[in-house]
Formats: sequence, C-alpha cells, structure tokens
Amino acid sequence: MKDFFKERFKKILDMIESSDLQEKTVNAWVSAAKEGGWSIEEIDKIPFTLLTDTKGINLVEHTIAVTLGAYGLAKAIESTYKVMPFEINYDFLLAGGLLHDVGKLLEIEKFGDTYRKSRKGKCARHPISGAIIADREGLPDEIINIIANHSKEGEGRPQRIETIFVHQADFATFNPMVMMDKGLLIE
Ligand SMILES: [Fe+2]
Repeated sequence: MKDFFKERFKKILDMIESSDLQEKTVNAWVSAAKEGGWSIEEIDKIPFTLLTDTKGINLVEHTIAVTLGAYGLAKAIESTYKVMPFEINYDFLLAGGLLHDVGKLLEIEKFGDTYRKSRKGKCARHPISGAIIADREGLPDEIINIIANHSKEGEGRPQRIETIFVHQADFATFNPMVMMDKGLLIE
C-alpha cells in the first residue's frame, strides 16, 4: 500500500524537501485507506466527489491536479511580484495539497456498483476526518490548517497562505464540473 501511494504521488513527493514530511504524507494516505477498508485496486476508481458527476475523474487525479494548481498559483505570484507580501512554504503547500482530501477515504464508501457517503462521513466531513488522520500521523499544524480549512469549513477562518492556494485550486477543479452538470459551463 505504501509503495502504491509513493508511486502515484511520486512527482509531487519528489518536490517536497523534507523526507520526514514525504514519509508522513504517504503514511496518512495508507492509514486512511486502511481505515476506510479500500484495496489498492479500488483506490484508483474512487470519484473525487459525490456532489456532482465527476466524468470519471478520480480522487488520485484530482489530488495531483489540485496540488500542481496550487503550486502553479504560488509560483506565478512569487515570480511576478517585486516584493512578496507573504512567505510561501512550498513543503507545506505540496504536502497539504496531497493531503487536502485524504479524509475522503473515510467519507466515501462503496455501495454496490456505486459510491455513497459513509456513516463516518455523515458524522464528520473529510476536512475534519482528514485533519484527525494528519494529526495522528504527526503532521504539523500548518498542514492541518490546509486540510481542515480548504473547503467551506475554512470560510472566515484564519488560514495559512498555502491553505488559500489549495482552496482556490480545489474549487477551480470542482466548480466546472458542477457548472457543467447544471448547463452553466459555456462551450
Ligand atoms: Fe479536493
């Protein structure tokens, strides 16, 4: 299981400088997959959300796209501004991006040929369960801020700059799917 996640997330894990953070990030995915009862074969099929038609985009693809999106946004700002008004921690951004939806392994469960919200997911949405997993695996508070606040739970709450970038990249991948579903995405 550990090798599976290392392979899937290799490109981004290699961009994280701290080997401790790389290790803990993978451990959190393994821990969540085990707790959610997922096999390796099943993981690539998990949709990234139950809230709209994902058109086959899975959780692993979504996680990578969001993390690279947040990274690109941070780099665009950093390479353009003459004076940076804030400091960006790329290790936090990358590990937090990889972990922002790790709680979905507990929030979603298989239901016949499809998927549904699990009991655990009803009790605590993925930003909460993901934050609990991350804390259990010894990830720093800054990563927990990203996970716990990347979604609507973070509205009006104190956030790290990396949390804002992950949030924006997350909604840039989520909103078009919802709008497409509603016929609001102009082609
Ligand atoms: Fe997400």
